[in-house]
Amino acid sequence: MKKGDILVSGVQPTGKLHIGNYLGALKNFVDLQNSGKYQCYFFIADLHSLTGEFNPKEKQKQILNLTADFLAAGLDPKKSVIFQQSQIPAHSELMWILNTITPMGELERMTQFKEKAGMGDYLLYFKQLSENINVERPEEEKAWEEYEKIKNFEKYYKELFSREIEPTEKDLVDLHKILNLLKNLSSTYKQLREFSRATNNLLDEYVKRSKTKFGLFDYPVLMAADIIIYNARFVPVGDDQLQHLELTRTVVRKFNSKFGKTFIEPKAIQTETPRVMSLANPEKKMSKSQPESCLFIDDSPEEIKNKIKRAVTDSGSEIKYDKKNKPAISNLLEIYSALSGDVIVKLEDEFSGKNYSVLKNDLAELVADYFSDFRKKKSALLKNPVKLRLALESGSEKASKIANKKILEVKKKVGLI
Ligand code: ADP
Ligand code: TRP
Repeated sequence: MKKGDILVSGVQPTGKLHIGNYLGALKNFVDLQNSGKYQCYFFIADLHSLTGEFNPKEKQKQILNLTADFLAAGLDPKKSVIFQQSQIPAHSELMWILNTITPMGELERMTQFKEKAGMGDYLLYFKQLSENINVERPEEEKAWEEYEKIKNFEKYYKELFSREIEPTEKDLVDLHKILNLLKNLSSTYKQLREFSRATNNLLDEYVKRSKTKFGLFDYPVLMAADIIIYNARFVPVGDDQLQHLELTRTVVRKFNSKFGKTFIEPKAIQTETPRVMSLANPEKKMSKSQPESCLFIDDSPEEIKNKIKRAVTDSGSEIKYDKKNKPAISNLLEIYSALSGDVIVKLEDEFSGKNYSVLKNDLAELVADYFSDFRKKKSALLKNPVKLRLALESGSEKASKIANKKILEVKKKVGLI
């Protein structure tokens, strides 16, 4: 293997890869490997994949399927170390040590966590709401007492949300009491109805959060360990992983300043298409969690054709790259350009005067053609699962030599040995 900067990346074995995964990550893995400039480590992030819903009976299949994706796309065990994360316990050991220096506040900011845990910025929302509640003093003597109660709640809410931290168990019990009182009062005070509804939502959010698994929260720390245990300088990933890399750099700085220089701060390497958008909604990224919006790289030519045909388009009829006003067509042009190697202006020129359906037809053909070799290689590889398993084992053996050396160094620095 050639000497050079170290480069690491992983993909979760959670199902089929879509063209976003391919253009944002896997295609680049192959190009970077073949450039001969780096020592490359590519792995199956099976431990990360346990943070989503999964069927244990399917997991092995998913791991081998992704290994076949890697190899069929052009990753080569002779040029890169290709391995399985869980076969190298040092990743998890390092994660634990990093856990002890990673602030929870940093993890709470992670967009992926917030999205996957199903939480919005509800604390902020409630803060605004509590600032806007303004109940007028009632005329009738009888309502005065209630008014005082409301004022107390208001004070309570303001205090609670000005802390900008998660309410405690006791706060939740109090919120429940308040909710009941609000229910009674809101028949008298219209202003309170929205507040009462929102309080209900808040409690729902808490229920959701209490069901959210810790692994999802800790996900970025394992990712940091995956990267820095190999002294990686570069990490090829799509847009959605940039925040996790930022966290990795923060953790590296904290570790180095506490225990002495041990790790390198890694940088992302992105492609021209770091964020392929959904075929159904060009405002959202293409994601496995919405399979209907995805073009999978092992889809058959018919499926590809149907999916592209059904893809949403923009108003107007001109084929022009304009992300703001024509996000859907721009997304299709980006995919076209990335696969054909033609620059976008050339494509605009070629398609000028033609309508959307021409672009869609040509793109469907291009995608089907582009992946035809891949599909053949992949199905041949899947016929020999033992070979795939052996390839992973031999890669994991190579990777564990580096990882074990690094974890020893870390344990010494921390004073464990
Ligand atoms: P998903 O987000 O679909 O579950 P993964 O988390 O397995 O996919 O991502 C694997 C790699 O593909 C990562 O480097 C990620 O940044 C990249 N990626 C995922 N979705 C997209 C997309 N829509 N466009 C570009 N890159 C993407
Ligand atoms: N979090 C990455 C994703 O969802 C997968 C991953 C795990 C990864 N560990 C990594 C990517 C280390 C790069 C480096 O796509």
